[in-house]
Amino acid sequence: MWDSLWLDVNLATMMPDEGIGDIADGAIAVTDDKISWVGKRAELPAEPSDLAKVIHKLNYQWLTPGLIDCHTHLVYAGNRAQEFNLRMQGMSYADIARQGGGIQTTVAATRKASVDELFNTAARRLSALMREGVTTVEIKSGYGLDESTEIKMLRVARKLAEAFPVTIKTTFLGAHALPSEYKNRADEYINFICEQVLPAVVAEKLADAVDVFCESIGFSQAQAEQVFKAAQRYKLPVKMHAEQLTNSQGALLAAKYNALSADHLEYADQQSIMAMAQHGTVAVLLPGAFYFLQEKQQPPIDLLREYKVPIAIATDANPGSSPTTSLLLMLNMACVLLGLTPTEALRGITINAAKALGIGETVGSLEVGKMADFAVWGVDHPLDLAYGYGFNPCVGIVKAGKSLGNR
Ligand code: NIG
Ligand code: FE
Repeated sequence: MWDSLWLDVNLATMMPDEGIGDIADGAIAVTDDKISWVGKRAELPAEPSDLAKVIHKLNYQWLTPGLIDCHTHLVYAGNRAQEFNLRMQGMSYADIARQGGGIQTTVAATRKASVDELFNTAARRLSALMREGVTTVEIKSGYGLDESTEIKMLRVARKLAEAFPVTIKTTFLGAHALPSEYKNRADEYINFICEQVLPAVVAEKLADAVDVFCESIGFSQAQAEQVFKAAQRYKLPVKMHAEQLTNSQGALLAAKYNALSADHLEYADQQSIMAMAQHGTVAVLLPGAFYFLQEKQQPPIDLLREYKVPIAIATDANPGSSPTTSLLLMLNMACVLLGLTPTEALRGITINAAKALGIGETVGSLEVGKMADFAVWGVDHPLDLAYGYGFNPCVGIVKAGKSLGNR
């Protein structure tokens, strides 16, 4: 017998290679924390009461896989409202970074913050994501840029995973920016990250992947490659912040290292996209940063489609370039600002986001054997999630088979 069975429900399985895989009047069953049956209600093998211990009826609302935010910087201290003020008076994001503001401002605040302070502020952001149906979140370090603070951030991310019914994948982003104490010594800093901080992170099993900010105001290709080689020594998958502000050929390098994802990609060219397709590297688009930094160059959506690179969408939740905790808003922005279809956008926060985290086999779609992570929606159709903005129609979440209640 199954533990539970959901009936009177429409399912967006996200199962086929395209589309949303919808099943009207479906049924979905769970045993322990996994999906044990999914299909049309009419095809259930027996009477529901003979099949499951508990039956939930959903009044023909829509059920999707739990949403996945595959790129966030949720753990940090302070905010950058003052910098926003400067930008709105005409100063650019890159200029602020070059003058020692930007990421450095958050680094200073994060170094000073206690574990509790970081935990409590991140917990609020995480709760906001979860209220919108998110059941899996990636969290990066990168506001420490020294050994103890990078480790502190990753420990907080692991602690969040213990405290909340959500899956958290952690990413070590020691190569996020050059800290002021290493001014003009970027190569030395990269050595420090690779030879000292990463081994300490690995010793505590604090990272599931390694990321680099490869950019004119970040690190060079050669420096990024050194970080990738270090990650390889520990068999950690890599990913990259690439081609956000300039074409630095980072995505090409990321693909060569079989990166899980290359993220941002506004300036990515055809060669990089072909390489991403060849190596299974997912394109993670971050419409919140595109919007907030008032970028003009859209990522090359048509090339991504032409070469069939899976496209994911994420919040990039961070204090400098994307101070948001709404993945649903990103869904709408991905359509309106970046030109995705609502279907592509919805795949971008479910199955393709799972692929971007290397967990496409266990979450991201409603499929037998996958984790029973669901979100239930008070909408007429799942694509309404991309159509509306500034609203939250999530009415319930199921995490690992356990219902977290309705709103
Ligand atoms: O994803 N690009 C680098 N990292 C963040 C921005 C971080 C910040 O400005 O604090 C991003 O956009
Ligand atoms: Fe980011």
